[in-house]
Amino acid sequence: MSNPSLLILPGDGIGPEVMAEVRRIIDWFGAKRGITFDVSEDLVGGCAYDKHGTPLHDDTMAKAQEVDAVLLGAVGGPQYDNLDFSVKPERGLLRLRKEMDLYANLRPAQCFDALSDFSSLKKDVVAGLDIMIVRELTSGVYFGEPRGVIREGNERVGINTQRYTESEIARVARSAFELARKRSNKVCSMEKANVMESGVLWREVVTEVHQAEYADVELSHMYADAGAMQLTRWPKQFDVIVTDNLFGDLLSDLAAMLTGSLGMLPSASLGAPMANGRPKALYEPVHGSAPDIAGQGKANPIACILSFAMALRYSFDMGDEAARVEKAVEQVLADGVRTADLMGPEGGTPVSTAAMGDAILAALDASL
Ligand code: IPM
Ligand code: MG
Repeated sequence: MSNPSLLILPGDGIGPEVMAEVRRIIDWFGAKRGITFDVSEDLVGGCAYDKHGTPLHDDTMAKAQEVDAVLLGAVGGPQYDNLDFSVKPERGLLRLRKEMDLYANLRPAQCFDALSDFSSLKKDVVAGLDIMIVRELTSGVYFGEPRGVIREGNERVGINTQRYTESEIARVARSAFELARKRSNKVCSMEKANVMESGVLWREVVTEVHQAEYADVELSHMYADAGAMQLTRWPKQFDVIVTDNLFGDLLSDLAAMLTGSLGMLPSASLGAPMANGRPKALYEPVHGSAPDIAGQGKANPIACILSFAMALRYSFDMGDEAARVEKAVEQVLADGVRTADLMGPEGGTPVSTAAMGDAILAALDASL
């Protein structure tokens, strides 16, 4: 059997720096665990635009469709702010999500014990937190038509459309229920059924799927604004949250900060199974390209490394090896190793991106 294949797209800003640490972890698995990946690397985002005039070359798109999993760093930067919408770095990422049909975006927010003092919320609110946001990723207002800026009389009008089909709602609901069964068996669905017809349909379809296929899972519904409030008030009331593309974008950034830093949160974007049984998959940190600290070796590589751990679990069925990486991260944090984003008000000396990678590799060695 051939090695599992990975396409690495480091992207822009801190993407290449954090991905360099992931490459070292991948190499560690080859050297120490006999788990070898066929790795190829390519461009996405602003760097792809600089080279090809498009944020995602067709050849890169084709490669992404062929590999077992894609690992992505981050896209975007201020130098691209004035580009036409159609070639902005973010369009590269959105094209990957859409054309690979990665409809279920899993964003786990876990608070590591060592960081529970560090959240802006009280320790007892976040200590031991372990929730999973399942964000719909290929539809909704991100992709709905009509869209654009048009002229109406003597003024301009900006238009985006929230649109969801029943089948789009049903499939992401199933992903959430399946995950819940492997966790604490609870799903909370969030929308704005009080003001949006698409939210009314969302609630109906989630309820129908639940009754027909997942009646053993506890289901609740919440308006997304109230959900945001409850997430900061008492996040531990949740297990799995399922929500649409835009609400999921917002709520997952909020959930990330419960854990202390956006630099901690990984994600998996999964689609339908391929011929080999593995799901179409892309793994990326939730954080962005952080242009303000790019190139300085300050970025926290943990979110990207934990995204690779999610690849081990969800694409390659190596839950034990994923847990090995997660435990190594936990150990390093317990030892007090901190990148700048993880420094509390009491200060201290932050380590570099590469030194965080060194520490995690040492913890992996110690796990053998
Ligand atoms: C995310 C990001 C993206 C999104 C951007 C970079 C297009 O914020 O993955 O959360 O809005 O989905
Ligand atoms: Mg976001």
